[in-house]
Amino acid sequence: MCGIVAYNGGRNAIPIIISGLKRLEYRGYDSAGIAYVKKNKMAVIKKSGKVKELSKSISDALISSIGLGHTRWATHGSPSDKNAHPHLSMGGELAIVHNGIIENYGSIKEGLQNRGYEFRSETDTEVLINLIDDVKKNEKVNLFKAVQLALSQIIGAYSIAVLDVADPETLIVAKKGSPLLIGVGESEYFVASDPSPFLEHTKNVIYLNDNEIAKITKSTLEIRTIQNELKRPYIQKLTLELNQIEKGNYETFMLKEIYEQPQAILQTLRGRIDPNYEFIKLRGLNENIDFFKNANKITIIACGTSWHAGLVGEYLIEGLAKVPVEVEYASEFLYRDPLISKNDIVIAISQSGETADTLSAVNLAKEKGALVYGVCNVVGSSIAREAGVGTYTHAGPEIGVASTKSFTSQVTVLILVALSIAKLKNNISNSTFKVITKCLFDISKKMNCALKDIDNQTKELAKLYKDAKNFLFLGRGISFPVALEGALKLKEISYIHAEGYPAAEMKHGPIALIDNNMPTIIIATNKFKYEKLLTNAEEIKARSGKLIAIVTSGDKKMNKIADHIIEVPDVERFLSPLITTLPLQLLSYHIATLRGCDVDQPRNLAKSVTVE
Ligand code: AGP
Repeated sequence: MCGIVAYNGGRNAIPIIISGLKRLEYRGYDSAGIAYVKKNKMAVIKKSGKVKELSKSISDALISSIGLGHTRWATHGSPSDKNAHPHLSMGGELAIVHNGIIENYGSIKEGLQNRGYEFRSETDTEVLINLIDDVKKNEKVNLFKAVQLALSQIIGAYSIAVLDVADPETLIVAKKGSPLLIGVGESEYFVASDPSPFLEHTKNVIYLNDNEIAKITKSTLEIRTIQNELKRPYIQKLTLELNQIEKGNYETFMLKEIYEQPQAILQTLRGRIDPNYEFIKLRGLNENIDFFKNANKITIIACGTSWHAGLVGEYLIEGLAKVPVEVEYASEFLYRDPLISKNDIVIAISQSGETADTLSAVNLAKEKGALVYGVCNVVGSSIAREAGVGTYTHAGPEIGVASTKSFTSQVTVLILVALSIAKLKNNISNSTFKVITKCLFDISKKMNCALKDIDNQTKELAKLYKDAKNFLFLGRGISFPVALEGALKLKEISYIHAEGYPAAEMKHGPIALIDNNMPTIIIATNKFKYEKLLTNAEEIKARSGKLIAIVTSGDKKMNKIADHIIEVPDVERFLSPLITTLPLQLLSYHIATLRGCDVDQPRNLAKSVTVE
């Protein structure tokens, strides 16, 4: 969603901010802008559209040692030049960029209007900057104090950066519920929504906590709470490398990330599997053995692809560990009064660790006394911190909006969790434990060998099916969530309507859609209900449907029924989602690129959805 970049230091802020905004493009946005101080006046350049368009309106001669930048994903008001950030206070002295939502902006706006304020945009952000302006003038305080006082009136989530023409050497930033980081350089500071905008300049970073506000000059940094308590900044060293956030030789981040999956899984497994395949080391789980041994029930909460990983987790944990599992959309978990008790475990899955629905669900589960276990990719993210215990996926940065490697690494963590609980509760034999664990350790080699072939085959299939209007994805058992994930991938990047269904459900409705224009993809490996899947395939062909089957290599029966088959390596049943998802990702990818879609930044989508 929205992204913030700001700079205060000895260099020209403008190119630093523009290249930083380009690094944030992956988050999804519809407009962009910058603010800087020029000849004692606040200047703003903003435009709807891409950062490339914005940079065309900025002269190379423009120099400023301080500035703010923003990419906006519309919430209040349509994507337009006037609604783009930065926003100015009515008199033009203050400028702000803001991520998040000010929930009580309506009543504040009314009060400001009564006091003579006029508004140029439809945004909640313009209300906030005018509130800061109003407080500053009425209370006769400096900007830092005015921001503190104004934020104490705000309900909602925000990260903000504010600039005042009266003090053009100082940048004020604050955070609550939306991430904000400060990069610490040599007599210079960077501010951003994630580290990618300043990684090439510094690896020293401070993660601002909720309710903290920072005053940044070129050489000083002071952090206080909104209630004015002084805080000691904690500087961490990022381990992230620049090549991890660049495309390298790949045409898109999505393709790079699909190909990175074997390596990402190895990263997820690193140090967690005993070399003799006798036990698994998950610190978060081992430190809470009694909880995991005695849990009545496990509830998994997540959104989107992470929710699909959670559904795979349900099959894994119930199938291997024999503990009841419920999987909930994080938002719906919030809207019910979920029956969660102290003996329950709630697993929250989130690549970004910033998804607002999941974060709120985590807080609700904590209030109800459950042990909350986070499965996140982004280290230090809000969900990881709120959960307190958990397991990082360590898949590396995922820049493409469509989740690929984060799905397979989340599934990998859930396999480790399921095997660990199964072992703890003595619900798995040593030999089965060894077979699955060894197969998991070897799976990345199998993925590596298969990827190129699957890539070539799906490229050819994409040429045949790129103009289809609808797709059906079917699977049984643990392959059902994989079918759901396949359908989500196709719709989000190619804009083709697609539905995922349990294969047995087809005859209860979706079969009515089958005709010779309707392609169906069926996941039909030989590990589970293969004969029944053959029957589903016959039913589709009997109605002239087009059928693509994902089968185990060496398959002898499905190739006689389906129009096309894609063979995948033979792996243990519980691990099959790691393999069967590859052709679905690549088919969606090739269909979307043939249709000319921007696969890394699909329309309307944001990488991390930080509003509920
Ligand atoms: C998947 O391709 C999506 N971009 C989306 O569904 C995503 O998985 C969802 O928004 C959850 O994000 P999270 O894992 O960062 O919480």
